[in-house]
Amino acid sequence: MAGYEAGFRDLTEEVRDRDLPVEGTIPAWLDGALYRNGPARWTVGDAAADHWFDGLTHLTRFAFDDGGVRYTNRFPRTEAYRAAVEEGSFAGQFSSTDGYLARVKSMLTGESTDNANVHVARIGGDLVALTETPNWLRIDPESLESAGTLDYADNLTAHHVTAHLRQAPDSGAHWGYFTRFGRTNEYVLFRIPEGTTRRERVGSVAVEKPAYMHSFALTPAHAVLVEPPLVTHPAKFLLPGSGGFIDSYDWEPDRGTRFLILRRDTGELVREATVPAFFTFHTANAFERDGSLVVDLVAYDDDSAVTDLSLGALRGGDAGFPSGELRRYRLPLDGGGPSHDHLADEVEMPRFSPAVHTREYEHAYAQSTEMDGGNALVRVDVAEGGAVGGRWEEAGVYSGEPVFVPHPEGDDEAEGVVLSLCLDTDAERSVLVVLDGDLTELARAPLPHAVPFGFHGEYFRD
Ligand code: CO
Repeated sequence: MAGYEAGFRDLTEEVRDRDLPVEGTIPAWLDGALYRNGPARWTVGDAAADHWFDGLTHLTRFAFDDGGVRYTNRFPRTEAYRAAVEEGSFAGQFSSTDGYLARVKSMLTGESTDNANVHVARIGGDLVALTETPNWLRIDPESLESAGTLDYADNLTAHHVTAHLRQAPDSGAHWGYFTRFGRTNEYVLFRIPEGTTRRERVGSVAVEKPAYMHSFALTPAHAVLVEPPLVTHPAKFLLPGSGGFIDSYDWEPDRGTRFLILRRDTGELVREATVPAFFTFHTANAFERDGSLVVDLVAYDDDSAVTDLSLGALRGGDAGFPSGELRRYRLPLDGGGPSHDHLADEVEMPRFSPAVHTREYEHAYAQSTEMDGGNALVRVDVAEGGAVGGRWEEAGVYSGEPVFVPHPEGDDEAEGVVLSLCLDTDAERSVLVVLDGDLTELARAPLPHAVPFGFHGEYFRD
């Protein structure tokens, strides 16, 4: 039996609108589409990417209709795709050891990679593939082909951008932040009003040594940046032989991890709080209660969550996946000290119902990173101190990010389905599983091939 290294094998096959066989019953109310993004090809001839995050962008669509599901997958023909396939170059990526000139140029001129392989969103009426450079891709929602990079209706200069936008429930605006390197480095909080591609600058925080940050959190009144001490100085990007983008960052745990809380209406930085160092990729939900801001996130002891994911180690099946802990941080807005509670061990890719975004909530859904011939999906009942409210697993199956889709007329937070693209290592193919809100399986639909482990996705109603 193959292990999880099967999830790092190159995929080359593309299919369009393939009806998938369905075992079980997909709820008839599910009539939109799940779009997912992730790297799926790391080698072309003799050329290879070094880091998992540097594989070529691969998009999938699962279109639901009347209990059936149609599957499409595509490598958008980006500049990065052409460079890899036609020139055998994976330069200029997250962590590649060649491409130094390309990288310097990309960081300082904004002509950075268009290998947008992290996430998806609907912005200004378009499906958009997101990455951590400003080069986001407009994507044809049917063919999944690229329609070129997104044109922003603004004049902002961004260098490193979050691919985890947060859509505000009240206005529909997408919120995010970017880092701008310069004489003064700054984190810039921005919003993109619904129906536009205009990034409006809301506020900023000047910083001497910018950190690598991957996601942030939103509450009704505030935005929260979580700044781990994985920091750089822009001059480091200019040093020859310093490796790829992430290799320019150093772990400086004495700095601690800093929460930066900005008001959404004025952009004012209203609170900073520093706690003992941890690293994080992903926040879960956040909300405000009794004068405190509460933010749930997956914390790691150090930066090995970034540095351990070389492709060689993953393909060899002996990467030490670091263990993430779901924590709840409580940050008093009046200046009292921060504190945190433990919610769950060994989880990643936390998601929750979009119906409860920015509100006090009960359930977080996550992958278990406990890997033993497969890994589970778990429901963590965060309002119950982290009790396990549901669990799905199957021998030989590795789960993907659990995307929660609320029932359109549901009252209860758990009323809905969880969609997860999993890898069946025995059958050597992927399978889309449809679970209910307590992770009981409702249906599954096997794919014609194995899709390598991806990152993030979203479900959009028609
Ligand atoms: Co992410």
